[in-house]
Amino acid sequence: MNSQEAQICHFPQKEHVLAVDVGYGYTKAVSAQGKRICFPSIFSSARDLPLAELSDGRTGHTVTIQREGLQTEHYFVGDLAVKEGRSVQYTLDDVKHKHPVHDVVLLTAVALLEPKANGKLMVGLPVDYYREQGQSLTHHIQNLSAMVSVNGGPETKIHFDDVMVYPQGAGALLVATDMPVEGIAALVDVGHKTTDCVALELGNGTSRPVQSMCISVEAGIVHLHQALAEEFIKLTGTRLPAVYTEQVLRTGRVWFRGRELDLSLFLTEARKVIARSIADRILAAWGDRADFVCRVYLAGGGVLELPELHKMLPGAVVITDPQFSNALGFLKAGVIKWCDDANSILARHKL
Ligand SMILES: Nc1ncnc2c1ncn2[C@@H]1O[C@H](COP(=O)(O)OP(=O)(O)OP(=O)(O)O)[C@@H](O)[C@H]1O
Ligand SMILES: [Mg+2]
Repeated sequence: MNSQEAQICHFPQKEHVLAVDVGYGYTKAVSAQGKRICFPSIFSSARDLPLAELSDGRTGHTVTIQREGLQTEHYFVGDLAVKEGRSVQYTLDDVKHKHPVHDVVLLTAVALLEPKANGKLMVGLPVDYYREQGQSLTHHIQNLSAMVSVNGGPETKIHFDDVMVYPQGAGALLVATDMPVEGIAALVDVGHKTTDCVALELGNGTSRPVQSMCISVEAGIVHLHQALAEEFIKLTGTRLPAVYTEQVLRTGRVWFRGRELDLSLFLTEARKVIARSIADRILAAWGDRADFVCRVYLAGGGVLELPELHKMLPGAVVITDPQFSNALGFLKAGVIKWCDDANSILARHKL
């Protein structure tokens, strides 16, 4: 072994571990250096806009991607695509990584996190897709290589030396605090399209997954969006443009043809119905074991949208930082796998 190899082994690339949770709704990304990114998993082709709009990262991102042998691609990504994009693309496909959105949001997130890194990457998949798609996603990302520039910044070469895929929900469970010493602890991750559940049986200082309780339910916040869209059409005869969805969900109101529509009562009811249907489907899938769960950790951005849910699942508590919990759990798994000094890195990040 020459001295350079020895040095590489002795000083692992701890700063290069990244975790990206490419959700159907939002892309969440964290680095071992403590940086965080979150934006809607949406893009459109870029077009000319006033410079002030382009330079402000808070309104979304302009992204240039150059893949080998292909023409340079120019995109609006995240909020900028929602606000200004035409022919916006997002995906609800079961095999997400085969849809063009996947690579565009992944490359954008990585370029925003660590412009210099050529690193090790942790990503996730819904529990039900994990076995089928885990290998194909790993190969797909290992073959991904591009020069990327975001918000007019310098071009960065992005390629990953190592990739690991982790089940969603299991990632979030890695950052749950106050785990019971015995009994079943479950985690319910309410996402945009899917709700992922994982469960562990704890006792005698060990833990084992309860396979029959590790499931994905095809239900999430997209159903609230659909209910809102249907109600808006019923009231106005017009489609609610996507750019107003978040605003209506936050305020319950929207101006339409000189009249302010109040949808807050409708939304309160719709949230209850969707929370009830998610809880019922989880409890039905868990069957008899549901009665023996001692704690349910609630994760995913969806638990912030459905506050009723915690009353419907016995022993439920909302995890700290629920929308980032999978990304943080993936980062923790990656640091443990790839870094010699994992403990000090995890302590620094309070993981
Ligand atoms: N602070 C918040 N308050 C209310 N709702 C929120 C908040 N943050 C996120 N959400 C909502 O939570 C939903 C789910 O977010 P999350 O990022 O967990 O989904 P996802 O991971 O993209 O979806 P999936 O897991 O299905 O791929 C989003 O549709 C978003 O509208
Ligand atoms: Mg998710």
